[in-house]
Amino acid sequence: MFEKKLQMIPIKTDEEIVKMRKACEVAAKILDGMANYAAAGVSTYDLDCFGRDLMMEFGAKSASFLYTTGAKRPYPAYFCISINDEVVHGIPSKNVILRNGDIVSIDVAIFYNGYVGDTTRTVRIGNVSDEVDRFITVAEEALLLGIERAVGGNRVGDISNAIEKHAKKHKYGILRDFVGHGVGRNMHEEPQIPNYGRSGTGPVLMPGMTLAIEPMFTLGNEKVFVADDGWTVKTIDGKLAVHCEHTILVTDTLPEILTLVKK
Ligand code: MF3
Ligand code: CO
Ligand code: CO
Repeated sequence: MFEKKLQMIPIKTDEEIVKMRKACEVAAKILDGMANYAAAGVSTYDLDCFGRDLMMEFGAKSASFLYTTGAKRPYPAYFCISINDEVVHGIPSKNVILRNGDIVSIDVAIFYNGYVGDTTRTVRIGNVSDEVDRFITVAEEALLLGIERAVGGNRVGDISNAIEKHAKKHKYGILRDFVGHGVGRNMHEEPQIPNYGRSGTGPVLMPGMTLAIEPMFTLGNEKVFVADDGWTVKTIDGKLAVHCEHTILVTDTLPEILTLVKK
């Protein structure tokens, strides 16, 4: 109605939180299954199909399939699967076969009972170098450091700053044009959560907000471009990228990570 800044950040009711927990648990299980299936010799198309079957068993629906917002064409697969220098939104393909030493990020965003769970992991295929191993570990650490700051009364900039500081400490690039977000009835809700920013700035966090926090780092230069397929975001210098993501619930104390796999 007025200016964009005044848009509401949804606060979930107790009933909605129960549904978010369930949707996120299903998302986490699908991601875990796909991560275990990912191996040398498997195509990213096979991986997408494997995830689709698992999703159907759970009675969940892809939130990515035919997604259009802000894009030239509807997203044509069930999951975003991005390999090596692909940062996000990689389109699964029969021609992309995972090889020993590759890294592959699997982004699972699904609807379950009307709510979205959104979670990503970058998986190591076989043996990766120490440098690459560390790169993934640091991104996961940054995600947890960001999550730790997502406490009621803090601000979005506190999350952003924690993630940025950890990336900078290790001299990794940070994507500018792709950000985390609120998540709930829709995959993308207010607020936007950049992976860089100043502490004490941005919207105030309140208990009942559900947020997808998702560091996206590069091993070299942070500049990226969108490939001719209209979706795949790749590094310009061809160096590796990492992406990890959890959906969390803001509370008065430490957040609840809704997309942790419960064994
Ligand atoms: N799951 C992604 C995110 O973390 C978005 C997927 S884009 C789509 O925000 F087009 F594939 F849907
Ligand atoms: Co996602
Ligand atoms: Co997301």
